Amino acid sequence: MRILMIGDVVGSGGRRAVGELLGGLKTELDIDFVTLQGENLAAGIGLTVDTVVEMVEAGADVITTGNHVWDKREFIDHLDDPRLPVLRPLNYPPGTPGRGATDDSGPVAVINLIGRVWVGEFDSPFAVVDDLLAGGFGQGKPVVVDFHAEATSEKAALAWHLDGRVAAVVGTHTHVPTADCKVLPEGTGFVSDLGMVGAVDSILGVEVDGSLNRFLSGYRQRMQPVRTGLMNFNSVLIDLDDSTGHASSVERVDRQIEI
Ligand SMILES: [Fe+2]
Ligand SMILES: [Fe+2]
Repeated sequence: MRILMIGDVVGSGGRRAVGELLGGLKTELDIDFVTLQGENLAAGIGLTVDTVVEMVEAGADVITTGNHVWDKREFIDHLDDPRLPVLRPLNYPPGTPGRGATDDSGPVAVINLIGRVWVGEFDSPFAVVDDLLAGGFGQGKPVVVDFHAEATSEKAALAWHLDGRVAAVVGTHTHVPTADCKVLPEGTGFVSDLGMVGAVDSILGVEVDGSLNRFLSGYRQRMQPVRTGLMNFNSVLIDLDDSTGHASSVERVDRQIEI
């Protein structure tokens, strides 16, 4: 089993890069299952039904999210639609719209969590995922975790906490790919951050001026994703040992394409 996990896809430029590249990568790398970080799909903030459908048609099996999942308010009503394979972080309070883990239908079980260091006030991702796994979640199939968090230490800590209990823990949210792919001793694959699908000439996928002026002026200015130009496509390939369900290798799959 080979699972490709794609970093935060930023706006139309990111979506177009996924559309151009993912089909070919699935064939080239013999990929069985694809997760995609979708919190920035729609104009860089949030998701819409159309952008989710576009990514499913491009080859994504499950779309995970993070802190930006609430930004397109009209999408909140769709978070519980069983036809859309969209998760929001599991460790929001009970009663929050949406779901934080997949149901039993797919070949891979996916869990979406959000970190607490420099991100916000949430239930403990450690305790919440422990409870889910203790309840028998994903038994008999590989389990992968998208941990949407800022601090690399928190991401590594969660991976070590889950070592041997899940197939992989990958970090998202920073939009910056990290070079620390590894398999932990008990068989859990890990990388601190997948990175993004977004413009090379940008700050985290958005236009340089808007982001830079925020730091120069001290107030938040309008930020737009970069829609054209050279795009980074950052992802990680998890190769699983089918007999154990553990990761046998984790490697970066990074491409660039002119959009
Ligand atoms: Fe993001
Ligand atoms: Fe985020």
